[in-house]
Amino acid sequence: RQDGAPLPHIEEKGAFFEVEVLEVQHYTETLFSFRTARPQSFRFRAGEFVMIGLEGEKKPVLRAYSIASPTWDEALEFYSIKVPDGALTSRLRNIAPGDRILLGKKPTGTLVSEALRPGRRLYLFSTGTGAAPFASLIREPDIYERFDEVILTHTCRTLAELAYTEQLVETVRQDPLVGEFANGKLVYFNSVTREEGPRMGRITDLIDTGKLFEMLSREPLDPSRDRAMVCGSFEMLNDLKHLLEARGFEEGSNARPGDFVVEKAFSGEGI
Ligand code: FAD
Ligand code: A2P
Repeated sequence: RQDGAPLPHIEEKGAFFEVEVLEVQHYTETLFSFRTARPQSFRFRAGEFVMIGLEGEKKPVLRAYSIASPTWDEALEFYSIKVPDGALTSRLRNIAPGDRILLGKKPTGTLVSEALRPGRRLYLFSTGTGAAPFASLIREPDIYERFDEVILTHTCRTLAELAYTEQLVETVRQDPLVGEFANGKLVYFNSVTREEGPRMGRITDLIDTGKLFEMLSREPLDPSRDRAMVCGSFEMLNDLKHLLEARGFEEGSNARPGDFVVEKAFSGEGI
């Protein structure tokens, strides 16, 4: 913010804040991200989600959203789907700088580093908008102090849908502060499933066949060394959970840290 520029709008409204939209970026017909003002009292742990929404005719329309920005950022960032007839996103897709959205006061969630036992290598497995919580985590210097290596995987149907994480990883690498921590520790792997691309296949298949580890030049998953966080559709979570459990990984929670944690990127079948 330039000196002298007016402060962005932030107002308390009961259990919510009303915050100003600062920036919007569209990637595809179905994906966009936006940044909003952040109330000073709004604290969260990297990887958590919060309710956000818009005022409605009778009552507000609210949905769960992962916070994609790191905890040190003075703004908040979200990465969003555009569901054609979605109650929230058919409107949210049209937001512009200067508009206002509702922001819940109580972030929560399981994709937090405190829910994992100490380990050496952290895998962040994501599909679709499931990359959002990891966009926060890979920008936290602390994650690189906890783990020797952080491997983010993002799988989408098409190459265009990888744009958000591709840009993000590039920004992290160039960031004067986080780039230094991430240097030599952050590994990014992406693949597509419904279009020709340099790397193809569902992450579950790539793990099962061992191709992921061949491509990364890393040893296969091992609970004595590796930890994992998983975010994607209900089916993706289930399949990965079984895969991890079959290799001896134990699921963790805030109350009882384990070798891996999962969180749904959305409810329902997906679009
Ligand atoms: P809804 O009526 O909520 O959904 C309609 C249908 O669209 C769903 O049944 C489902 O089939 C499909 N759908 C909804 N969300 C998605 C999605 N993200 N990807 C693919 N298909 C989807 N959404 C985000 O875009 N970004 C996030 O960071 C995010 N974090 C979430 C965290 C949690 C813990 C949960 C439970 C959901 C999260 N969602 C996220 C989903 C979000 O809450 C809404 O469902 C989404 O914004 C669409 O809202 P809607 O009212 O337009 O449509
Ligand atoms: P696919 O194209 O083979 O269905 P979605 O948008 O449906 O959530 O999908 C996002 C990505 O996640 C797609 O590449 C999709 O692959 C993949 N995917 C969907 N279901 C699973 C699953 N059960 N396990 C692993 N990957 C999945």
